[in-house]
Amino acid sequence: MTILVTYGSERGGTAGLANMVADGLRAEGFVVTVSPASLAEAPDAYEAVVVGGAVYAMRWHADSRRYVRRHATALRRCPTYLFSSGPLDDSATKKEIPPVKGVVHLMEVTGARRHATFGGRLLPESRGLIAHQMAKKLSGDWRDTNQVREWTAKIAADLRAGGQEQQKAG
Ligand SMILES: Cc1cc2nc3c(=O)[nH]c(=O)nc-3n(C[C@H](O)[C@H](O)[C@H](O)COP(=O)(O)O)c2cc1C
Repeated sequence: MTILVTYGSERGGTAGLANMVADGLRAEGFVVTVSPASLAEAPDAYEAVVVGGAVYAMRWHADSRRYVRRHATALRRCPTYLFSSGPLDDSATKKEIPPVKGVVHLMEVTGARRHATFGGRLLPESRGLIAHQMAKKLSGDWRDTNQVREWTAKIAADLRAGGQEQQKAG
């Protein structure tokens, strides 16, 4: 089964998460392509799609939003999973953090089967006025491989159970 993992990332942290998701799915036996959302192919060539996005000021990355909007019809036809990154603390590993409002809407639009929020990353040397200020207090890497693996195992179980038929019938 072929899976596309695509993402919107400003500073590389979410790109790294997308690769962790891909590694997790490959370990489960799937054939996975990873591509930034600004360059990714249409979903049609794949049997499932994962779209991730960095959250900035409570909004999903614009590339992720655009990809989902542009391909909403195709995404409704295949199993779709969304993820967001992320909190700059350990909150995402302690409790389930719901998607921001815009992502809730995109889950409805695509009929997405699952969403996860993963911890984010902000490097001390981050560029950009606000990011640079934030990094003085909040720099760190809160991405958790185990949390990502648990999520990809759930996706794998869904797909093996033939989730396509159940989810996308309408
Ligand atoms: C200016 C700025 C605003 C941010 N706003 C949020 C936010 O609203 N919610 C959140 O969970 N994380 C927020 N973050 C944290 C980022 O989502 C986190 O650093 C993420 O890993 C960035 O992903 P990227 O490296 O792929 O761009 C913000 C970070 C910056 C620098």
